Amino acid sequence: MEPTVEVLPDKAALVERATALVIEKIKGAISSRQQCHISLAGGSTPKPLYEALAKADLPWEQLYIYWGDERFVPADHADSNARMVRTAWLDHIPIPADNIFTVPTDVDSPVAAAAAYEQTLHQSFGGDSLPQFDIMLLGMGDDGHTASLFPHTAVLQEQTRWVSVGQKDDQPRITLTVPVINAARSVMFLVAGANKQTALSQVFATEGDADQYPSRRIQPADELIWLLDAAAAEGLNNVKS
Ligand code: 6PG
Repeated sequence: MEPTVEVLPDKAALVERATALVIEKIKGAISSRQQCHISLAGGSTPKPLYEALAKADLPWEQLYIYWGDERFVPADHADSNARMVRTAWLDHIPIPADNIFTVPTDVDSPVAAAAAYEQTLHQSFGGDSLPQFDIMLLGMGDDGHTASLFPHTAVLQEQTRWVSVGQKDDQPRITLTVPVINAARSVMFLVAGANKQTALSQVFATEGDADQYPSRRIQPADELIWLLDAAAAEGLNNVKS
């Protein structure tokens, strides 16, 4: 399916649009399947989205929360994506604790953390077929990475495991793999800022290096939505605002 690209005037408008879309998709999943499984992005862009979702009125007991990637740090560490989401959103809503599936970073190694999280997905989604998230939120770094799928790292080639170990410089990270991300019913990138222009043009180019720009590997069979602000989208051809 062709990606949908929406260019919003600024980051505030992007967050507003993302909030409306995510709420719409949560309601749609719950209406169709009585539950919604959402995988969250870390980083700075989605934080105001999570803060906006904290004000929404949704059947939280039917929402199940996961992370697309996590740094291998304690849960209360400043770099923890789980800490960021709890502070911005989950600590402010009556969601059952059992609906929140954080990556276990209190284990011996990143490999053990990835294996444990993969077990969590097997238990949560049931069986051995690829887990199909209803919503997969993603950001994109200025190097074209997404989740913790960084340029020229081994995890880009992973086609079997659902969760593996990514590497940002010397920092190990736990990340969903490309097959799991691409299996989602709806993948939604939130990309803001002029510093993303170059990577975006490389990701959107007809031809390109998917090892250098890993976001090129995100090609879900179902829905792919790019929400860009004008600063990030500057210079992209045939993209309507
Ligand atoms: C993380 C994210 C990462 C992020 C991009 C963009 O753990 O940091 O999952 O993939 O989405 O680096 O980050 P910004 O939104 O801060 O630009």
